[in-house]
This record gives sequence, structure tokens and C-alpha cells, in this order.
Amino acid sequence: MEQKLEAIKKDALASIASAGSVEALDEIRVRVLGRKGELTGILRTLGELPPEQRNIAGKKSNEIKRAIEEAIDSKTSSLQAESFSGLATSEWIDVTLDPPVSVREKKLGYLHPISKTQREIEDILTSMGFQILDGPEAETEYYNFEALNIPKFHPARDMQDTFWTEDGNLLRTHTSAIQIRGMEHMTPPFRIMAPGRVFRYEATDASHEHTFYQVEGMMVDKEISVSHLIYVMEEVLSGVFRHHVKVRLRPGYFPFVEPGFELDFSCLICDGKGCRVCKQTGWIEFLGCGLVHPNVLRAGGIDPDQWTGFAFGMGLNRLIMMQAGINDIRHFMSGDIRFVQQF
Ligand code: FA5
Repeated sequence: MEQKLEAIKKDALASIASAGSVEALDEIRVRVLGRKGELTGILRTLGELPPEQRNIAGKKSNEIKRAIEEAIDSKTSSLQAESFSGLATSEWIDVTLDPPVSVREKKLGYLHPISKTQREIEDILTSMGFQILDGPEAETEYYNFEALNIPKFHPARDMQDTFWTEDGNLLRTHTSAIQIRGMEHMTPPFRIMAPGRVFRYEATDASHEHTFYQVEGMMVDKEISVSHLIYVMEEVLSGVFRHHVKVRLRPGYFPFVEPGFELDFSCLICDGKGCRVCKQTGWIEFLGCGLVHPNVLRAGGIDPDQWTGFAFGMGLNRLIMMQAGINDIRHFMSGDIRFVQQF
């Protein structure tokens, strides 16, 4: 019995010493000390021995069991220590180095083309001394129509189909509403611009939206003439298109300007020679503008005998469509990330 026990101990300690992994040690533990293990098998037969031999063999078995357990524990610790120090050499990082390109080039999202172009126009106009103003999207009838020389029951109200709210207010149909709010707070001479979202109760198609963006501009000073307006418009368009753009005016009717104009710019696709986009005319219809009507100056608290001004209102969506060759205005509000990613 004693020899058998010694043989198990010798064999187990040799296996433990040569084990190369924690998994191999577990296998040795099961093989020797497990329920059906070599040592456990011997312990089960102890009851068959005479009492004095049983005591001696029992004591010996326990000593061997403890020795094997201690050997397994200490080998486990040394294997774990080795594997940690191995990790430290195989997987060390230098935290002072630049991160790899894949980590550095995190996708940060994209600005919507409307925001990008709006910011460009803001930069161009502020560089010419225009201040940026804001106004509410839900407006009163007074600021959107009345003060802009469009009284109740005036046919010009039909030019801009309107979303009315139940309390008699409306969603602004154009950024011109901000002209009056601006004039109320400004002392001439001044130059203001007002970008913003506007709403019209319209059926949508490839070039019409019910919700779109405009940029309003207004300059009030002594002896403002149409040539000031043309200069500013050429600067804005040439800045946005990064290319010299010619503009022309045609008579146009807007109750808040007199004279009023439709402004066209030379087609950038054919350089004014005539193509499908400009319907062979060489010109693209772009915005409404004119010299501020005396009634509007008066409504803003400005004396029209002393001060004159120009105003314009451009549609941002259609400008970007022209600039980027977008064939359907509904892409802007589609929420499709693939559309935004292209800009
Ligand atoms: C106006 O909104 C005037 N307030 C502009 C103005 C300001 C004239 C100051 C004179 C002085 P109009 O309705 O034409 O005008 O709209 C101006 C621009 O908004 C248009 O040239 C066009 O680019 C854009 N626009 C108008 N309706 C739509 C629509 N349904 N969808 C997309 N863009 C539109």
C-alpha cells in the first residue's frame, strides 16, 4: 500500500513539474484527486485494512494529497505569473505615440448642405457689414403680411399659400417677416441678413417643398439704388459658386418693394450660352428683390423721406440644387444619410 502511495506521489509531482498550462494542471488534479482519481481509489480501500495499518495508510494518504495539492497550487501561481509577464512584453503599447489612422479618422458626422451653404452666405454678407438676425417660425399676420404692405383681403396674400394656426397666427411664409422685426430695433444706416426656415401650404414636386430655407437681406442707408443691390448679389453668388456670376433684373411684383424685380444669374452649366437647365435662355431665375417700399419703412419706424433701402429674399434649396446638380428638392428633408454624406 505504502509503495503504491509513493508511486502515485512521485508520478503526480513529476507531471505537475512538467505541466505547461493551468489546463494541464487541472487534468492532473482530476486524474489523481478527482472522485474517480488514483489517490481517491486507494482511500476507498482503506476500510479493508486491519486498524493499525489503516491508521498509518490513512495518515500517509492525507500527507500525499496535501503535497500534491500544494504542488498544483504553487505551479498554477507560477504559470499565471509567467503568462502575465509574457503579456507585458507581447502586448505593450506606447501611450505617447500618435493613435493609428483607423482610430484617428473617427467619423464625426456631416453638416447638412443647407447649413453649409447658409454659413457660406453668412460669411460673405457679414464680411460686407451685414448683421445676422433671427425671428420666430410661428409668426403673426402683422409681421408676415400686414406690415409688409399686404393688407387683409389683398390678392397678393394668395401668392404665398399659408399654414394658419388655430389661434389666428401662421407659420411664416418668408423670411421677409424678419425685416420689420429688424427695423423696429435698428437705427439707420444698417445692413441685416436673416436666414431661416419658411413654410408654404403647397403640393410638393421636384422643385417645390412645403418647408424650405430662405436668406433675407436688407440694407437701409441714404440714397440706396439698384446698383447697390446688384453689387451685393453678384458678390454673394460669385462667393457661393467660386466663379464670377453675372446677374440681371427683370420687373417683378412683390408688395413690399417698389420697384420690384426678379433676379436671374447667368447659367453656370453652359456659361450663359443656353442649355436644358436654363431652358436655352442662358439665365437661371433666382430670387425676388427690390427697393424697400415706403410703407414698409414706415411700418418699421423709419422715415422714407430720409432713408432708402434694398431688400432681397433667396431660396437656399434651389440655389444648392443648381450648385450641386440635385434634381429633386425633396432630397433635402428625406433624412437619407447617403444624401448628406455627399457634401
Ligand atoms: C419671397 O418669398 C419674397 N419674400 C422674396 C423677396 C424678399 C422679394 C425681399 C423682394 C424683397 P418668393 O415667393 O418668390 O418671394 O420666394 C423667394 C424664393 O424662395 C424663390 O425664388 C425660390 O427660390 C424659393 N421658393 C419659393 N417657393 C418655394 C417652394 N415651394 N419650394 C422651394 N423653394 C421655394
